Amino acid sequence: MAILINETKSIFTLQTDHSMYQMKVDQYGVLLHTYYGKKGDPFDYSYLITYADHGFSGNPYDAGEERTYSLDALPQEYPVYGSGDYRSTALKVCYPDGTHACELRYVRHRLQKGKYALPGLPTIYATQEDLADTLIITLEDTRRLFYVHLYYGVLENLNLITRSVCVENHGAETLYLEQAASVCVDLQHGGYHMHSFYGRHMKERTHQRFPIHHGIQSIGSSRGMSSHQHNPFFLLTSPQATEDNGECYGFSFLYSGDFLALGDKDQFDQTRILLGLHPDNFCYRLDKGDSFYAPEAVMAYTDQGMNALSQIYHRAYRRNLCRGRYKTARRPILLNSWESVYLDFDGKKLIEMAKDAARMGIELFVMDDGWFGKRDLDVSGLGDWHVNEEKLGCGLQELSDAIHALGMQFGIWFEPECINEDSDLYRKHPDWVLKVPGKAPVRGRYQLVLDFSREDVREHILNQICHVLDSAKIEYLKWDFNRSISDIYSAALPPQRQGEVAHRYILGLYDMLEKLTARYPDLLLEGCSGGGGRFDAGMLYYTPQIWCSDNTDAIDRLSIQYGTSFGYPISAVGSHVSHCPNDQTGRITPLETRATVAMAGTFGYELDTNEITEEEIPFIQRQILEFKKYYDLIQNGLYYRLTDLGEQPVFHGWEFVKEDGSEALLCVVALQIKANAARCCIRLKGLCADKTYLVDGEEYPGSVLMNGGYLIPHATTEYESFRIHIIEKNRE
Ligand code: GLA
Repeated sequence: MAILINETKSIFTLQTDHSMYQMKVDQYGVLLHTYYGKKGDPFDYSYLITYADHGFSGNPYDAGEERTYSLDALPQEYPVYGSGDYRSTALKVCYPDGTHACELRYVRHRLQKGKYALPGLPTIYATQEDLADTLIITLEDTRRLFYVHLYYGVLENLNLITRSVCVENHGAETLYLEQAASVCVDLQHGGYHMHSFYGRHMKERTHQRFPIHHGIQSIGSSRGMSSHQHNPFFLLTSPQATEDNGECYGFSFLYSGDFLALGDKDQFDQTRILLGLHPDNFCYRLDKGDSFYAPEAVMAYTDQGMNALSQIYHRAYRRNLCRGRYKTARRPILLNSWESVYLDFDGKKLIEMAKDAARMGIELFVMDDGWFGKRDLDVSGLGDWHVNEEKLGCGLQELSDAIHALGMQFGIWFEPECINEDSDLYRKHPDWVLKVPGKAPVRGRYQLVLDFSREDVREHILNQICHVLDSAKIEYLKWDFNRSISDIYSAALPPQRQGEVAHRYILGLYDMLEKLTARYPDLLLEGCSGGGGRFDAGMLYYTPQIWCSDNTDAIDRLSIQYGTSFGYPISAVGSHVSHCPNDQTGRITPLETRATVAMAGTFGYELDTNEITEEEIPFIQRQILEFKKYYDLIQNGLYYRLTDLGEQPVFHGWEFVKEDGSEALLCVVALQIKANAARCCIRLKGLCADKTYLVDGEEYPGSVLMNGGYLIPHATTEYESFRIHIIEKNRE
């Protein structure tokens, strides 16, 4: 059992293969946090807590004359607002009398075999091979009006601890939940670095590392989506931690809407970590008997450095988060029409492109934006999900048949959550959008957002989508979302429930995705939000791949994909070869380099096949064969970051290694060409030290490749790249 309970001392110890987490109920019923780190003896770690009389840190009444007991200083499992703890807190409740002061005390606990699930929310699940247990600790507020059930999922062999919280109103009156974080971890000792992934549209998930100083350092989103600006995944590491060594904690939020993540270093140099729903735009009404479930957060710990931490998430998200056929089935190599023709196409043009694509070995043709309603420009059409046969010059079935006749699958783009004012749907249902009465809404890309908190709205859109999907053979759907949400108001809810709309919107989105995936289990879904604006673990539960960025420039993508790799597997990263000069940056890069970068993802093309020269065709054909050959190694192998983009300006490298160490693919992109320079060397990782490998016809012991390194060929053109296959001798 991964959960050890010492009933006499009221200690709960959660153990995974390599990590350990501990809590203890103290003499006043407060649930303290006592340890999170490397697995060891399940000793009572509360000896590490300092009790002292601290001025201006008050004492709870039950502590009587004991001035050394203060919640302002103690490490707690779920600190609450108004308890005399003046740090950032996890829970804030507005009581029926309008006050907020709150205290929680332990009531009971319950063990459950297997991993819990949450109603309407994505969660990590355990497979048959996984050892998983659930602990639910129940606290009650001292005014006896509600329970807080703390959920812990312990996935031993995955080295994960998952968390969620349920707040249950068992009193007679209405409460308002103003904040309910999913995770709090109070680390009493040590200084930490936080690593977050910030950015903007076309520059998502840029890695930044900074020491947590006294005060609050937070990242988050109140855009109604997880956002391009900050990702709901972050790391906490020791200041010395590197890719290969040192203590690292990971925190990942399985949620696609607003979030807040923060590090708060207090007056005693203790660091509190919080992660959960953003309290802005959030106020949840709980009537008598109602419960609220906070989204799941996933924590991991390793003392083996950042790369090992990433690999924990990669494996778990591939095996225990993604679902459906394409969790394991090979994803088809696609050609997407967006950067080839944008909105300017007809059926004939698409079929011509598809013919070229088929000749090159592409397996799926995706018709992006522009096939529906009145959609020649992006000012109109969203909301009217019926095929514009006049524009296409044919019906959808005819188009799909023509593509299938070429031996390819067919896919299609939707943006279900948005609407243009110039659409039949808006003219008919102007109250179906998020819009504050009496105020003109903020527009984004000429569009408004449909009120997905409403079932009738969702049902209408889902029916339209199903109608299209049933009208032709369609194997792939790209689910896009192209603006930040604003003007949060639902015409279907009373004033006292408006604080629920942002969260209900995301629940509505999940509900619709669940229905869609249940009805079309073989459909490959790709998430997208202007590229990677909703690249989060919540979406991965429904869409096994997500378009990583609208920036397809291979060199910019290095940083975007590098940052993404910290928290998400390669199999999640939508990545395509596009044309040159690149549409976003104007940069020219070799076709082979664009392929090298796109192969660190789901791999596909997004260019006008008419622009491909006869000389380029065999290259593309070879790239496709190569990707298929190494598919399993790339998608299911261990992923290693070999260079830090911030520190190595000359080249950038990464590596895919089979779990048994028998094979690897080394990828390197030259960032600078140097005249008359010595060759650069890169140290490989993940090989078996005592095995012999063949690299480009030469034999090397694994230890030599890992300790001495491999000499990268000399780059002779700008941004040249190298894909170097490494195979154990006698396995080739
Ligand atoms: C977003 C997506 C693109 C493309 C366009 C279509 O920007 O990220 O890939 O689908 O929308 O409008």
